[in-house]
Amino acid sequence: MIISVIGSGYVGVTTAAIAAIAGYKVHLIDINPKRIDVLKSGKSFFYEEGINPLIKKAVDDGNLIPSTDYDGVKESSVIFSCVGTPDNPDGSSNLSYVFSSAETASKLMQDDAVYVQKSTVPVGTGKEASKLLKHPENYTSNPEFLREGTAVGDTLYFDRIVVGGPSEKARKAVINVYKDIEKNRDDIAKLAELDDRWKENAPVGQYIEANLESAELIKVTANAFLALKISFANNIAKLADASGANVVDVMDAVGADRRIGRAFFNAGRGYGGGCFPKDVSGLISSATHYGVEMPIMTAATDINASMPGYIAEKAQNALGSFEGKKIAVLGLAFKAGTSDARRSPGVNLANILDKRGASVCAYDPQANEEASEDLRKTVKPCSSVDEAITGVDAVLITTEWPEFRELKWKDISKKMAGSLIVDAQNVLNPLDIESAGLQYIGVGRG
Ligand code: UGA
Repeated sequence: MIISVIGSGYVGVTTAAIAAIAGYKVHLIDINPKRIDVLKSGKSFFYEEGINPLIKKAVDDGNLIPSTDYDGVKESSVIFSCVGTPDNPDGSSNLSYVFSSAETASKLMQDDAVYVQKSTVPVGTGKEASKLLKHPENYTSNPEFLREGTAVGDTLYFDRIVVGGPSEKARKAVINVYKDIEKNRDDIAKLAELDDRWKENAPVGQYIEANLESAELIKVTANAFLALKISFANNIAKLADASGANVVDVMDAVGADRRIGRAFFNAGRGYGGGCFPKDVSGLISSATHYGVEMPIMTAATDINASMPGYIAEKAQNALGSFEGKKIAVLGLAFKAGTSDARRSPGVNLANILDKRGASVCAYDPQANEEASEDLRKTVKPCSSVDEAITGVDAVLITTEWPEFRELKWKDISKKMAGSLIVDAQNVLNPLDIESAGLQYIGVGRG
């Protein structure tokens, strides 16, 4: 069977490579020739665990065909749209790629081919976009739930596949692609060299069918709720700081209630990346469009925006002033496991400290290059932890990379000029820091 995937971001590349390994002939289409050239050479242009061996094999076998033109759509029975939906300055979603790719594909599609919207779109988009197809009933919404950093594992060992649309035949055609992937997933995981724990802890994946609007709203609601959990934990962290409680203990105990769950309760510098900030503002904006207010999400956004400044304030209180102080910021990716630095709280913190007069050196194991565009020119990029921390008054850990958790603090204390360690993601053991003669500050850890 032949499919097309339009858009070669995290979602498109992962979906295309996995489907190709599962036995499909896959046309991966992107208008960016640089991306297509890298993919043709058998690798990804972003860092993502496990993706390169899949791309390499699929390209070598001739099953994954990266291309800058849409010709592959003509022979495809299912066409996945995985294009970007960046936000407009007013917070609403920019849907120009969603509509332009649907328009281009609609002219080439076979009559009974199914168009699958995987891009995150505001509720109501599908109703409009489907009108571009000759057969609007063949339009489906199939939102994506993979996370960057665990994209391959999330796609293979999914919690649920959601497919919305008016035609049962179209919905089933989409579900069948995932069933083929599910059948082959352990072999694909092996090729991607995923940890066996994925297989051992595999959930029973559910297939959920719904109407178009529900499918669209499921996606943004899931992301908004996760963002809400993080902001809730961060709000409690501020209260914990003020009262002497420890937010980690609080959220561990609260999350132990199965009705609540512990996931996404880690307090810290707040959420970033290409999804949560944009999806939350997109939800608020699309609710406004329907005349509905979302004060709960406005509050989540405000708390999130306050966290980098809150952490900078704590560092400033401990240092006296930032003027003339040298500070290392470790972590520029918006989270561990990715080279993505979009809306990265680590970048934001480095810029805040720099603006307030500190001399900042920044390092990330994967995201130095991607972060460089957003970092103030006066922030010094470093190529190792050692280079970043030597001679500094304070170290801020802003991304939870395993290599930062494993740092030898006794050695580091000898290389630093000062003694302040700010753990902006609450990933360190305060006792390790203190027993190395250093001062520990976390977020909400009393
Ligand atoms: C998120 C969702 O988790 C995916 O299910 C969804 O498919 C994806 O958005 C998307 O819409 O494409 P992602 O943005 O890759 O995935 O990353 P997450 O792991 O969700 O983390 C988002 C941010 O929240 C990161 O900055 C992370 O550091 C932060 N976070 C996460 C916290 O601050 N605390 C937590 O407890 C968890």
